[in-house]
Order: sequence, then structure tokens, then C-alpha cells
Amino acid sequence: MTTTAGGRARQPVDIRPEAPAPGEPRFVAELTPRVDEAIRAALARYTLPARLREAVEYSVLGGGKRLRPLLAMLSCRAVGADDRLADSSAVAVELIHAFSLVHDDLPAMDDDSLRRGLPTTHVRFGEAMGILAGDAMLSLAFQVLTDAAPDAALAGRLCAELAQGTTGMIAGQVYDTLGGFPPGLTPRQHLDLIHHNKTGALITASCRMGALAGLWPRADHPHLAALTAYGNAVGLMFQIVDDLLDVEQTTEQLGKRAGKDEQAGKLTFPGLLGVAESRVEVDRLRSIAHAALAPMAPDAAGLADLCEYLAVRTK
Ligand code: IPE
Ligand code: IPE
Ligand code: MG
Ligand code: MG
Ligand code: MG
Repeated sequence: MTTTAGGRARQPVDIRPEAPAPGEPRFVAELTPRVDEAIRAALARYTLPARLREAVEYSVLGGGKRLRPLLAMLSCRAVGADDRLADSSAVAVELIHAFSLVHDDLPAMDDDSLRRGLPTTHVRFGEAMGILAGDAMLSLAFQVLTDAAPDAALAGRLCAELAQGTTGMIAGQVYDTLGGFPPGLTPRQHLDLIHHNKTGALITASCRMGALAGLWPRADHPHLAALTAYGNAVGLMFQIVDDLLDVEQTTEQLGKRAGKDEQAGKLTFPGLLGVAESRVEVDRLRSIAHAALAPMAPDAAGLADLCEYLAVRTK
């Protein structure tokens, strides 16, 4: 237990259940505590107002699957390198992801009060702190990549990759929330544009950052393009599954409100194509992802297993 500046006792937040989720590969339970430790250690290096620190820790460490850090670490493995080289990338992508979730839940966005089985950050800490905690996680992500980085050129490249993923995510959130699509696109093209950006961009960045951390300085290695193709396929698949879970699962199972997309009039895969056709699309993307990994076998076995889990996950 830690104590805040105001002297109030505070329980460390970690609500991840002991039992593995159905289909979850064994390395998930091995790697996620390491990710959490790396996030805790990184946050401890920065001086923050006590209440902001509390809100950031609550947002980034209170539950969640840590899939983007796993993608970074396993992409590093896939290029034949030690996955510890991807530790700072893993922390940085999870900070951006947590920022995106906190802002996604705000009243002006999806207006949600439950996330990862807990009250959303703005419900727990107030709207101003929700906005500011998101802002802080955005900038901390880039500090983590640059502070104490052994290679300045690599740090710069990782920042550029993460910035591209983050800008893509924000563009996708704009399309998802406010529209404003380029003219002449079909509804299916609108949907692809939303999903590739709001979710795919950060997932692809996670894979590319892990690969670059492992390959550096061989940044033109063909494995980078292969992992980009894997990230693009898995990224779109991930959001289709998220849309399906919103339709098929309960709020209790998901730890976030179920059935909200239709209620909010969101453009989703099950909404446009139906559940069965969306599952066909998941299978198609799953095959593309596996094919992309072929040149990296057997080092890419972890990514292959993670792809399977992402296709069948139930939360
Ligand atoms: C939820 O992402 C938001 C989407 C981009 C679909 P996750 O399903 O990875 O959320 P956590 O991190 O496990 O809570
Ligand atoms: C969120 O998509 C994508 C983000 C960039 C956070 P959703 O709005 O579908 O995510 P959930 O369902 O609230 O987790
Ligand atoms: Mg949303
Ligand atoms: Mg949402
Ligand atoms: Mg959703």
C-alpha cells in the first residue's frame, strides 16, 4: 500500500483475474506482469501532482489485457531479438492506449461510466482530471521513449512511429465520433477508414516499434514490412471482434458497457454486415496475418498464437 501526498492510504490497483481467459496463450500470463512492472517503474521516474499520478496509475494499470505491449514484445522476438529490447516501446504504446480509452469514455465522446470493470477515469476523478490524465499519458509516452534511451537515433525513430499511430488513432476517433469523411466512399469504406485508424494505427505501430527495436540499425529489413502487414490485418480484426463483443457479450463479462454501439448509432461491422459475415471477415484477416508471419517462422510463433487468441477472445 502506498500513501498519497495528502496522507490518504491508497490500494495499488490491479484487477486482472487469476485464471487465464479462454484461448489465452501461456506467454500472456508470463509477459503481462513484466509489462506492468515496467509501466510502474517508468511512471515512478517522473514527478507528478499526487492526484494526477493516482489518476494515471488508475487508468493505465487498473485492469486491461496489455495486448499492444505484447504485440511490441512478440514482434521483437519475431525478428530474432531479445524482447527486452522492446520494453520502453511496450510501456509507451500502453500509455497511448490508456490515454485513448480515457478520452474515448468522456461525456463528449462515448460517455461511458464503466471501463476494465471499474468506474471510468472521469467518473472516478472528475472530468477535468480525466482530460488531464489523458494528456499526461500522451506526453509521458514520448518521455519514456526518449529518457535514458541508449540510442538517440532509434529513440527518434520510435517516437515518429508512435506519433504516426497516435495521429491515426485520433483521426479514426474523429471519423467515428464526428464523421467528415472524404466524399464518394461507400459505407464499407467508411467503416474500414474508421477501424484502420482508430484501432489499427496503434496496433500496427506497436508491431513496427517492437520490430525496429529488435532490428536496429537494420531499419530497411523486409521483416519490418511483414510485421506491418501482420499489424494491419490484426488491427482491423481486433476492432471487428470488439464490435462483435459489444453485440454478443454482457457488460459483466466485458467490464465495459455492452450493446452501446447500436444505441449510439455507431457504424460497426455487425451493424453493417451482420454477425455471421463479420466472423467471415475475422477469419479472412486472421489468414492474412498468419501468411505475413511465414518468413519469420519459427520466431514468430508467439505472434501466431496471439493472433489466434485475438480472433476468439471473449473480452
Ligand atoms: C479497447 O481495447 C478499445 C479498442 C481499441 C477496441 P482493448 O480491448 O485492448 O482494451 P483493454 O486494454 O484490454 O482494456
Ligand atoms: C475505441 O473504440 C477506440 C479507441 C481509440 C479508444 P470503441 O469506442 O469501440 O472502444 P470501447 O468499446 O469503448 O472499448
Ligand atoms: Mg469510441
Ligand atoms: Mg468507446
Ligand atoms: Mg467498442
